[in-house]
Amino acid sequence: MNPFDLTGKRALVTGANTGIGQAIAVALGNAGAQVVCAGRSGMDETLALVPNGTALKLDFADPMAATGVFADQQIDILVNNAGIIRRDDSVDFSEADWDDVMDVNLKAVFFTCQAFAKAALARGSGGKIVNIASLLSFQGGIRVPSYTASKHGVAGLTKLMANEWAAKGINVNALAPGYISTNNTTALRADEERNKAILDRIPAARWGDASDMGGAAVFLASSAANYVHGAVLNVDGGWLAR
Ligand SMILES: NC(=O)c1ccc[n+]([C@@H]2O[C@H](COP(=O)([O-])OP(=O)(O)OC[C@H]3O[C@@H](n4cnc5c(N)ncnc54)[C@H](OP(=O)(O)O)[C@@H]3O)[C@@H](O)[C@H]2O)c1
Repeated sequence: MNPFDLTGKRALVTGANTGIGQAIAVALGNAGAQVVCAGRSGMDETLALVPNGTALKLDFADPMAATGVFADQQIDILVNNAGIIRRDDSVDFSEADWDDVMDVNLKAVFFTCQAFAKAALARGSGGKIVNIASLLSFQGGIRVPSYTASKHGVAGLTKLMANEWAAKGINVNALAPGYISTNNTTALRADEERNKAILDRIPAARWGDASDMGGAAVFLASSAANYVHGAVLNVDGGWLAR
């Protein structure tokens, strides 16, 4: 038996219309899972790439938006990928930029995990949660206070939920992407100086591609990771090793 085979499993990926979420949806689909591709924008591009995908409208403008989706359908794998970033000097940072980021990146992640776990525990079926953390779950970053706070929070909550649910068959883990070329990092790549500084520090000597996240997501979503709990797995071209 292939321990990475997801045939017969149903996954839900948030923010699956683009970037890392789309790449993870594709990887889970290619590994055999049925994938519910969730997000606030059109899902046509993703559905054309995912072998067994369906679309679900989900907007975390309301951080509780996903709490109803697990009661009436069995979801075995939850990938909390949707996330936003706001940049400003800390002395000028606004309350709106704090609240918007914390709502999508942290509050929505926790309550979506809670709803998933409630349903899985009621069914006694277990499940796999993969949260998307960041290098800024470990480092401070600069000019991104709410993002850094939210991603440190994601790493902490991943461990807390793992502690509570590991013995009940739910694996809670996270992936920490390094510098991946997506919409999220367009501003960094456009800044010649920052782009060079980033590239010079990455041992792999290149930006990551969203597809680089796929294999690690399949691993954490599969039975190969049955004894992996509370891990934050860096997929960063070696950045944190340096
Ligand atoms: N790229 C990197 O280098 C990097 C590094 C570390 C961590 N990450 C994390 O990886 C995850 C994916 O980011 P990405 O790089 O793929 O960026 P992206 O291309 O900007 O994708 C972000 C995704 O989140 C969705 N989203 C944002 N707000 C939402 C809301 N209110 N409701 C529902 N969906 C919402 C976006 O939907 P729309 O397209 O509709 O806005 C999009 O699908 C994020 O959690 C990010 O923090 C990225």
